[in-house]
Amino acid sequence: MSQQAEWWKQTTVYQIYPRSFYDSNGDGIGDIEGIIQKLDVLHALGVETLWCSPFYKSPQADFGYDIADYLSIAPEYGSMEDAERLIKEVHDRDMKIVFDMVLNHTSDQHGWFVESKSSRDNPKRDWYIWRDGKGKGLPPNNWKSMTGGSGWTYDEQTDQWYWATFLPFQPDLNYRNPEVKQQMFDIVRHWLSKGVDGFRLDIFNAIFKDTSFEDNPFSWRPLPSEDNPDGFFQSNVHTINHPDTFQFAQELRAVIDEFDTPKRFLVGEVFGPTEKICDYCGDGSDGLHLVFLFKSLHVPMTAKGFGELLDEYETHFQAPLMPTYVFGNHDRPRRDKTEEQARLQRLFQYTARGVPFLYYGEEIGMKHHSLPLKTALDPMAEKYKWIPQWMATFMVKQGILLNRDECRTPMQWDASPNAGFTTADAAPWLPLHPDHTKRHVAAQRTSDSLWTCIQRLLQLRKQHPSLHAGTLERLPSSHKDLLSYQRNHQDAPTIRVYLNFGKQTITLPTQAGTCLFSTHTPRAQELPLPTQLRPYEGVIIQCP
Ligand code: NOJ
Repeated sequence: MSQQAEWWKQTTVYQIYPRSFYDSNGDGIGDIEGIIQKLDVLHALGVETLWCSPFYKSPQADFGYDIADYLSIAPEYGSMEDAERLIKEVHDRDMKIVFDMVLNHTSDQHGWFVESKSSRDNPKRDWYIWRDGKGKGLPPNNWKSMTGGSGWTYDEQTDQWYWATFLPFQPDLNYRNPEVKQQMFDIVRHWLSKGVDGFRLDIFNAIFKDTSFEDNPFSWRPLPSEDNPDGFFQSNVHTINHPDTFQFAQELRAVIDEFDTPKRFLVGEVFGPTEKICDYCGDGSDGLHLVFLFKSLHVPMTAKGFGELLDEYETHFQAPLMPTYVFGNHDRPRRDKTEEQARLQRLFQYTARGVPFLYYGEEIGMKHHSLPLKTALDPMAEKYKWIPQWMATFMVKQGILLNRDECRTPMQWDASPNAGFTTADAAPWLPLHPDHTKRHVAAQRTSDSLWTCIQRLLQLRKQHPSLHAGTLERLPSSHKDLLSYQRNHQDAPTIRVYLNFGKQTITLPTQAGTCLFSTHTPRAQELPLPTQLRPYEGVIIQCP
């Protein structure tokens, strides 16, 4: 396998959900200026690339994933000058910034859709997907949205139905219309010209739908999952992972490659079996640079679970492709239950071959906050308010989140009122997690903590070419709770990683080398080589 050089293959990503990150003007919601003010903290932590969830102009019905103008900034988050300053300030710190790009759909308040909806013969009619129904009150076909129920919405005025993959106020653009494609490519170019280093692509695998508009076949699956988008008793063959979307990935890559000083990158939000979604990356030079691999969100905390995950990703994302390691985002339950688990998970994430994504708050082990479904602000929860709370709570345990407010609570910065997220007298847009008085960045920056543990891991990853650019080789396991692998690089010492996922002490199967890191003593620079791994301990060893 070749050793990798491109920056995006070696980087570490930190996701900011702007609304919840830091409120600089006391209105209870985070903003761009707030992100700028916290850049030094992120820089000190050591993350290299920031991905910001959308802050374009939007009615905020889906908190920014419903864009009303791709070329302006939502006033509640700031101005165009603020966005430009953010890009500059990030670059001044030698970091990169990735914007979120929602290509699949717009808001129903976008001028294009308002025009499109106005009459059947409006020039923008074909910019969205309009079809005749099958009869009175009957949609064009049986296609279901990703959130359940028919994805078709009836428009009385023009007596036709429009298609929306996600929620009805997010109508899908029609990429079979060349004007749409051109327009969206120009928007992408616009932001790249402003210096943005790449894009995270929202529900990328829904972009093309089949032109036959035939019914999707029946499936026994009640709910979709990360690796199988079939669900709601339907197989999404005509709506998800359509062959034309794979082709489109190549076209978009060509646009991105027009900008190469520095090179930019794309990471796609896609769902499906690992062996299929790797095709979005083409041969590594002609598709999306990365796709999110979401199986990790549900991987059991066992050596077997993590070992199988590693094997699966290594099989399907062999170099020059690169896997991604994600344990949380703004749509999924926060996963860190105990400090030990969080440390082990981070050690794995920053030492495996792949691009790690850290969701804001994970650096301090922020917890999932159970909130009542009935009062949720999340529009997805709106659909499910009839579900009893106990069932919603049970579903979170299965990794299914109906009320995404629960993983979007404000960042916990310090011990001041409102955890320093906003001013003392402001009302944060979502309630803070009750543990905010104890769990916050200020406390963790000055003690042996998860924050300093991650900081140390990030330093080591940067220092050692084997960790940021080496190949990965699984080592034979001497114990059922032990996961071990080594990272090799032609110009640098080999690094071995041992993770104990169990409650018992395990004899470390090596007696040679230098211990660079242990999850149990994160700050020490030089540690004696242990003979035993304590319960839930992970170590990094540099081979002689
Ligand atoms: C996926 C995003 O991650 C989610 O937050 C959003 O609601 C949907 N796509 C629709 O854009």
